[in-house]
Amino acid sequence: MNNAIEVQKLCKSYKDFSLNNVSFTLPMGYIMGFVGQNGAGKTTTIRLILNMVQRNSGSINILGMDNIKDEQKIKQDIAVVFDDIYFVDNWRVREVEKALKDFYINWNSSLYSEYVTKFHLPVDKKVKDLSRGMKLKLMLAVAMSHDAKLLILDEPTSGLDPVAREELLDILSTYISDGQRSILFSTHITSDLEKIADYITLIKRGNIFYSGTKDDLLEGFCIVKGGPEDLEAPLREKIIGLTANKTGFSGLLPASESKYLTKEIITETPSIDEILVYISKGEETYE
Ligand SMILES: Nc1ncnc2c1ncn2[C@@H]1O[C@H](COP(=O)(O)OP(=O)(O)O)[C@@H](O)[C@H]1O
Ligand SMILES: [Mg+2]
Repeated sequence: MNNAIEVQKLCKSYKDFSLNNVSFTLPMGYIMGFVGQNGAGKTTTIRLILNMVQRNSGSINILGMDNIKDEQKIKQDIAVVFDDIYFVDNWRVREVEKALKDFYINWNSSLYSEYVTKFHLPVDKKVKDLSRGMKLKLMLAVAMSHDAKLLILDEPTSGLDPVAREELLDILSTYISDGQRSILFSTHITSDLEKIADYITLIKRGNIFYSGTKDDLLEGFCIVKGGPEDLEAPLREKIIGLTANKTGFSGLLPASESKYLTKEIITETPSIDEILVYISKGEETYE
C-alpha cells in the first residue's frame, strides 16, 4: 500500500455549499497540509473521509481500504484530533487510558505512560482543567499509543500559543519519521505548514485549487508588483487576486505565465499564506 489517503471526485451538497469533485492523494510517510479559508470545506472533507457524513458521489480509500466498507478496520489504524476534545470532562488523565484502551487491538500501555511523562501531563488532573496545549497532547498520546498509521488533525493549532505549536510540530515530525505513518493536517495557520508539510492541498469554496508537493506549490507561483503602466492586457488576465489602483498593482502569477513579465515588474517568492490570500481574492483556478 503506497497511499495513506486517496480521495477521488468526492462530491457533497448542502443547501448553501457544495464540495465539487475533490481529489487528492497523500502518499504514505508524509505530512499533508490541508489549507483553506474558514468555510472552504476542510472539516466537511474530513467528516466524509471518516464516514461521519454521507457523500453524494466519489470514492475514498484509507490505508488501502474503502472508507465505508472497511470502516471498523480503518478505525484501528487511524487517530483523529478535532479542535475540540472528545474525552469526558470529568475523567482524570490516568482514567483516560482505562476508558479507551479496550477499543484498540494495538493499545500499548507502556508507550502511553511514556508519552504522558514526556508531555508532562498531570495524571491527577481532570480533562476539563487542562490547558488547550495539554488537551492536545493528551489526544496525541492516545493517538500514538494505539500505533495509528494515519493521524487526521483538524485545525489542531488554532488557539495554541507559539511554544505549544512548536512542540506539536516536533511531535508530529518525530511520529512520521519511520516512513510508515502519515498525517493530514488541516489549518488556516499556514506558517505551521511551511515547516513540516511535504504536500499541500489548497481548497477554495469547495474546489481543490492545488494539490501536490509544497515545493511545487511555492515554485509554481510568484508575486508580481509593478506600476500601472506595466499592467498590459495579457498579463492582467493571468494574474490571480489582482489588486490594481492608480499607483500600481500586485497579484499572484502562475510561474508558467512568466513570459508576460517585463523587466520593470518586481517578482517575489510567495509564502503559503500569501498564496491563500491571493487565491481567496480571485475567481481563477490553476490547473
Ligand atoms: N451539516 C451541514 N448542513 C449544512 N451546511 C453545512 C453542514 N456542515 C457544513 N456546512 C457548510 O459547509 C461549508 C463548509 O464548512 P466546513 O467544511 O466546516 O469549512 P472549514 O472546515 O473549511 O472551515 C460551510 O458553509 C458550512 O456552513
Ligand atoms: Mg473546519
